Amino acid sequence: MGMQDKLEQLNQLRQQIQAGGGPKRVEKQHATGKMTARERIDMLFDAGTFVEINTFAGDPDISNLKNPGEGVVTGYGLIDGRKVYVFAQDFTVAGGSLGAIHAAKICRVLDLAMKTGAPVIGLNDSGGARIQEGVDALNGYGEIFFRNTIASGVIPQLSVIMGPSAGGAVYSPALTDFIFMVQGTGQMFITGPQVIKAVTGEEVSMETLGGALTHNQTSGVAHFIAENEAGCLAMVRLLLSYLPSNNLEEAPCYQPVEPPGDPAELLNIIPDNPNQAYDVRKIIRLIVDGGELLEVQPLYARNGVVGFARLNGQAVGVIANQPEFLAGCLDINVSDKISRFVRFCDAFNLPLLTFMDVPGFLPGTAQEYGGIIRHGAKMLYAYSEATVPKITIILRKAYGGAYLAMCSSSLRADAVFAWPSAEIAVMGPEGAVNIIHRNEIAGADNPMEARARLTAEYRDKFANPYIACARGYVEDVIDPRDTRARLIATLQSLSTKRETRPAKKHGNLPL
Ligand code: HXC
Repeated sequence: MGMQDKLEQLNQLRQQIQAGGGPKRVEKQHATGKMTARERIDMLFDAGTFVEINTFAGDPDISNLKNPGEGVVTGYGLIDGRKVYVFAQDFTVAGGSLGAIHAAKICRVLDLAMKTGAPVIGLNDSGGARIQEGVDALNGYGEIFFRNTIASGVIPQLSVIMGPSAGGAVYSPALTDFIFMVQGTGQMFITGPQVIKAVTGEEVSMETLGGALTHNQTSGVAHFIAENEAGCLAMVRLLLSYLPSNNLEEAPCYQPVEPPGDPAELLNIIPDNPNQAYDVRKIIRLIVDGGELLEVQPLYARNGVVGFARLNGQAVGVIANQPEFLAGCLDINVSDKISRFVRFCDAFNLPLLTFMDVPGFLPGTAQEYGGIIRHGAKMLYAYSEATVPKITIILRKAYGGAYLAMCSSSLRADAVFAWPSAEIAVMGPEGAVNIIHRNEIAGADNPMEARARLTAEYRDKFANPYIACARGYVEDVIDPRDTRARLIATLQSLSTKRETRPAKKHGNLPL
């Protein structure tokens, strides 16, 4: 063959591989509301920037390709001008199932992303381990799991579930930083409905068992939910805009945008009655750039709000109690949600901004038997070990251990501010008065009146920010309208912060 013939052969081969499983299977993919792997990649990256690698990996017999591309497309491209690696499983080829070469292609992408300090995105759509390849397929998963673990805290790893993800295959996404799921098509489970029925007799649909809503609302496995693939990929791009490319870099800075609305609105959000709830997101939106908060796990453990925002153009991680749900108490699920988020931000140089309004830990046997002690301890651990700038704003309640857990000065917050509405004490006035004035209330002519009077006295004396301020636990009591300016100034003053911890192999986070 001459060069022209060889070029023609090359082009034909490339086209054959790019066609994946062929028109019929592509049609089936579209009919189920899914794009192909290559269509997804085109939508994810800046136009025309994707470069495929290892296109020809697979069967060396090029005259008879059984699984073109081996069921996965790999490479790199630009997102908002920054390099990102990707692997996209191709369901039209053997159901996107993972064999040895499919796994090797993914491993190469992970290795390159690590070497070059770039985020990696996995677009998952796969029937799991390629059954015909047996233990080689299992080994392929093991190789991926190992790399996911070593890359954790070095480069951001994002998993997007756009089709099935079954069996042990779910553990690669679970080892990454964030899981996105598409409603209706993305499904994750360890054992499917048929196995469950055979073993336990329980009947459940695929969607109820492992759909996007289940994992975003109930299990807490997933972090983001989207109605369709286009919306999901847009969300992935948005998340990346808040993240550095690796743990040695800072997140990109954007042009600062003033929040919408009048800062004076901050004076009217917290109700005068301390037992009344409000939506803490209203406060956050009046303080951060453009009022924009990209909430992580918005449907899970709604007694806490975590997410990404910007202050004066700089990305920060925001953590807040949400009085609207369970009165903002800390429980098992919210402890896990907050701790994991705090550790992510600390690993990737994102300052922590904590808004506190917490009445305490949620009481009850369900919480105690479920291990609230070890789950709540994660928060103390995560905030204590974090060395990024840590700023805390006490909005209202700051009671007991929960006060400590929401990044108090003793856990090395760099600055703690309180609004005049702050109440900082060992416990709420009602509970405290019932304990310390039990005899006086019992012996009073009118116990109800005595309790109300003593509660008011307690509130005046203890439930305010000034004792904590006098002791130096709180840096300043601020006018809520000045919060944004104060936070920006504090963040700037902390931009050169350097804090180290003793060298060790690793700590022992309570799990
Ligand atoms: C080989 C597979 C496959 C697999 C699907 N295919 N899964 N080939 N190994 N695991 C092939 C099918 O034979 C079919 O080929 C094509 O992919 C499309 O599959 P369909 O069944 O036609 O598609 P659909 O009806 O949409 O159903 C999708 C599915 C189903 C729900 C994913 O295929 C399924 O249940 N697959 C098996 C899932 C599973 O149990 N996997 C193992 C999990 S355990 P043709 O040629 O007909 O188009 C595991 C262990 C990992 O993964 C452990 C890691 C530690």
